[in-house]
Amino acid sequence: MKKACVIGWPIAHSRSPLIHNYWLKRYGIDAVYEKKAVEPKNVALFIANLAASEFIGCNVTIPHKEAAFQAVSKADEIAGRLGAVNTVYIKDGVVCGTNTDGEGFIASLRHAYPAFELKNKTAVIVGAGGAAKAIIGALLDEGVAKIGIINRTRERIHELQTQFGSGIYEISETNSNDTLKSCALLVNTTSMGMEGQPPLELEIQSLGPYALVADIVYTPLETAFLKKAKRQGNPVLDGLGMLLHQAVRGFELWFGVKPEVTAELHALIAGDVQKANKQ
Ligand SMILES: NC(=O)c1ccc[n+]([C@@H]2O[C@H](COP(=O)([O-])OP(=O)(O)OC[C@H]3O[C@@H](n4cnc5c(N)ncnc54)[C@H](OP(=O)(O)O)[C@@H]3O)[C@@H](O)[C@H]2O)c1
Repeated sequence: MKKACVIGWPIAHSRSPLIHNYWLKRYGIDAVYEKKAVEPKNVALFIANLAASEFIGCNVTIPHKEAAFQAVSKADEIAGRLGAVNTVYIKDGVVCGTNTDGEGFIASLRHAYPAFELKNKTAVIVGAGGAAKAIIGALLDEGVAKIGIINRTRERIHELQTQFGSGIYEISETNSNDTLKSCALLVNTTSMGMEGQPPLELEIQSLGPYALVADIVYTPLETAFLKKAKRQGNPVLDGLGMLLHQAVRGFELWFGVKPEVTAELHALIAGDVQKANKQ
């Protein structure tokens, strides 16, 4: 029986098995997807030996995405740009890595707001970590003209400017209102607002009424930041869609079927997140 898995440390929180096993059942594929706790010191070996192991591929989550990039024999252009791999697969016996976080965000946005226009627009990203980088790259690929970044550590904004070029600019307290007024999309990519983390305190009154406000945090499903945006009438996008859509390509690479992100799958994972939040 074919086997795939998600590796991380810790790994108990991962919803990837629920997602992939839902699809395996839906498409009648005789395979299984497991969680595998892999200690940081063992990641390189686990990935290097993947082709000879019982697994046909794996997802990679915190804190192993950078180590996985180093460990694969071949990384594609997107993974190279991010220096991080979240999906590993075997092609012609070679262990290959890619990163689907950026496409997951875009697919989630397209799924929820099919007519939303990104080309030549301005976006504002809160955060400058791995997820921010993936989303910035994907937004630029979609034709977004300018991306303003807000981040606690300013050096990380400068690194993004160096990597992605003149479309990236730093947002300070003095220019934040002007930028928010003209932006089409505002995304929180930090862990602020997540269960157990401080909330994201960002003034958003100056946002235009049609600006889409997204949060990639999905525990809770509706963060205080999204609640605030919703109260003032802005359209919103939660982080669960990104989680579901980033899983699509791995499943297709391993099992040969492009799976659908159905309302039933969304409800299944949302229910699991809500159940965990009540515990
Ligand atoms: N929905 C999805 O599918 C999906 C996918 C990937 C990630 N995520 C979520 O996205 C979040 C970020 O992930 P990541 O991989 O990008 O992490 P990361 O590389 O560690 O980056 C974390 C970012 O959050 C900022 N931050 C964290 N705590 C902060 C605080 N107390 N005050 C101000 N800024 C703070 C950091 O700012 P500094 O630079 O100043 O440290 C940095 O910009 C996590 O919650 C993760 O679960 C969701």
